[in-house]
Amino acid sequence: MCRSTAISVATLTDVAFQKCIQPSCGATYGINEVRVACQACGQLLDVAYDWDRLKPPTSFNFFEQKWSRRGDPLAFSGVWRFHDLLPFAPPSQVVTIGEGQTLLQSSDSVAKFVGQNAGRLYLQYEGMNPSGSFKDNGMSAAFTHARTIGAQRAACASTGNTSASLAAYCSVTKLLKAVIFVGSGKISYGKLSQALDYGALTVQIAGDFDDAMARVKEVSQELGIYLVNSVNPFRLEGQKTIMFRVLEALGWEVPDWIVVPGGNLGNSSAFGKAFHELREIGLIDRVPRLAVINASGANTLFELYERRGLRWNSGSPNSEVTQRYYEELDAEKRRASTIASAIEINRPVNLDKCLRALEWMDGVVREVTDQDILDAKAQVGAGGLGCEPASAASVAGAKLLAAEGMIQPDERVVCILTGHQLKDPDATVAYHTTDQELFNKKLGSRGVKRAAYANRAVAVANDRDEIIKAIQLYS
Ligand code: F0G
Repeated sequence: MCRSTAISVATLTDVAFQKCIQPSCGATYGINEVRVACQACGQLLDVAYDWDRLKPPTSFNFFEQKWSRRGDPLAFSGVWRFHDLLPFAPPSQVVTIGEGQTLLQSSDSVAKFVGQNAGRLYLQYEGMNPSGSFKDNGMSAAFTHARTIGAQRAACASTGNTSASLAAYCSVTKLLKAVIFVGSGKISYGKLSQALDYGALTVQIAGDFDDAMARVKEVSQELGIYLVNSVNPFRLEGQKTIMFRVLEALGWEVPDWIVVPGGNLGNSSAFGKAFHELREIGLIDRVPRLAVINASGANTLFELYERRGLRWNSGSPNSEVTQRYYEELDAEKRRASTIASAIEINRPVNLDKCLRALEWMDGVVREVTDQDILDAKAQVGAGGLGCEPASAASVAGAKLLAAEGMIQPDERVVCILTGHQLKDPDATVAYHTTDQELFNKKLGSRGVKRAAYANRAVAVANDRDEIIKAIQLYS
């Protein structure tokens, strides 16, 4: 699982460090410190590198060659194959459980649904990770950092996938004990069952994700528990590698668009950093555009970015705009609400980092309804390996952007499918059901009116001839 080489943490501390993202502050901290915010100004932190001294690879060939050494777990891992682009820990400290063996699939049927020309729409299946979501990319990096600083317990608030991932890393490696905070009744059974099965201490809060996030920050600080939510900058280092694998699968060609669902905004932030750094070190000469897609029932980023004009503004975002919006949410007692429970979040912790990514990648933000999400999800299932509802927001968003003419039919578009189809089978079954009561209860209550792409099960008597008749009628 882990290997030793000559590089030590001591050597790395001079070339890798933590840095406040606020340019006017720019405070730095050692990589062996545990922080989720800048002590001087309270902003988020990056993991930063002195690339001049690190001398990263000058060609993507370097990473290609790693595959021939895949007997080495660090070359096999889809995260650590790119270790030289996230060099904050020596190889001896790296934690891997085989994450990042994911697939970029071109899907012409989904392309047609979206409005793209054949061969121009790709689906990046992050559901193929060990715990079934993209979170494993970041968790392997956070665990690696936690190990270098000798943490004993790790905690997170979660809509289900971060908690499943944390619990899996704890159960496989036995390096840490997991404490997870979830909103009671707010996560799908697929995800809850993972946390329980993997043996995590599961704390169900009478509240939603935003409440759980606020509590876990307080409690983990008080008890000295290592926090693995994406406010932890090491998490996002791992999530950069999703973009490296997309490039790898495209023969190192940069696509035109990356489309990703937005919840706590860790992924979008990490993708911006990935492309910014690749350009900085000279491995690419242009970056794709970024589209972040909110569910309309949890649309803080859309509201702030597209309606109220909030921008990173080279490091001076107008935080009063955000503050005012949150006060409105509180005054109206408005809580996030969407069938895409993974992104049912109103107070995204990485908002400012995401604004920075949108600036770096000339980004746009859109919102899509639960109806759009479920129709797109059915199309992903019918044209590929399937995904959970939140993931399909990316495809629904791409369709919307194509209809607007923002995305051109011949542009190369990569939609990130963040979580496995089996994470939330209830939503899938409710969409395809013939039981109107079930449909109304689960989906109708969320404004979903029809299931245009439903594949309904055929009810038939327990009778050989009736079964044959039904098959001949429907196949
Ligand atoms: N898709 C899935 C399947 C997710 O689980 C999440 C986030 C997102 C998209 C949004 O990603 O936060 O980087 O913008 N899930 C978190 C969790 C919040 O707790 O599992 P983001």
